[in-house]
Amino acid sequence: MKIISAYSIKGGVGKTTLAVNLACALRSKDRRVLLIDLDPQGAASYALRVEGSPKFKIKGGIFSDASLRKSIQPTAFERLDVLPSHVDHRNLDLLLASMKKSRKQLHHLFEEVGKAYDFVIVDCPPNLTLVSENVFRASDLILVPVIPTTLSQRTLEQLRQFFRDSGLSESLLVPYFSMVQRQKRMHLETMEILPGAFPAFLRTRIPFSSDIERMALAGKPLLAGHSQRAAARAFRDLAGEVEGLLESTKS
Ligand SMILES: Nc1ncnc2c1ncn2[C@@H]1O[C@H](COP(=O)(O)OP(=O)(O)O)[C@@H](O)[C@H]1O
Ligand SMILES: [Mg+2]
Repeated sequence: MKIISAYSIKGGVGKTTLAVNLACALRSKDRRVLLIDLDPQGAASYALRVEGSPKFKIKGGIFSDASLRKSIQPTAFERLDVLPSHVDHRNLDLLLASMKKSRKQLHHLFEEVGKAYDFVIVDCPPNLTLVSENVFRASDLILVPVIPTTLSQRTLEQLRQFFRDSGLSESLLVPYFSMVQRQKRMHLETMEILPGAFPAFLRTRIPFSSDIERMALAGKPLLAGHSQRAAARAFRDLAGEVEGLLESTKS
């Protein structure tokens, strides 16, 4: 089982869109996928029309996986289940801070909850918090959507510095360009420059697309119908690239 996270310090960059579409793309290759929605706003749960009230309960100093496992819901899509978000998730930081080994608690929990799956995809809230640090320590790969603007370089540098300062492996961080508008000169220039400073950038770029904007409203991920639309193909390419990366880092 591999744990892949959709993370950025920033909001509104495409994390949830990635999590939902990647989950769909990976499960369509005959594998079981669990999407864990950690964002209290619950956009991924809503996109897949899943509700629930998962509670993080502590038993013997660690999270109880049994109670969370009961909250896992099937979706309309075969082999894709979701552990939905809950407004209580906003208190997860406080809960973690009260625990021993507060930076490593979610790793164990995700391993247990995700046992029956081939992939666990984690949709993260923005900001750098104890929750994010737990996710970093739990992940095999952290996908970072980057809108190609001048400011994005600074945000990526902050993240990389955090990894260095915290003794985390930078090789876990895999950025890719999100919401790309080729008609914008700033996008083209940034895409030219940024991979020089961050060589791990994926080749696949996700275009800005009104299909994606409509996705959440329609309640179905773009990929569900094996769509040939450009954005759907881009997400399938991205899933292929991610699988290749996970293969090559297998120990
Ligand atoms: N490639 C894209 N093209 C057009 N709109 C997009 C694209 N990716 C995301 N969006 C839209 O932008 C908004 C923010 O995306 P979302 O995935 O929710 O970001 P995050 O989870 O980082 O906050 C949503 O309304 C979403 O539908
Ligand atoms: Mg989101």
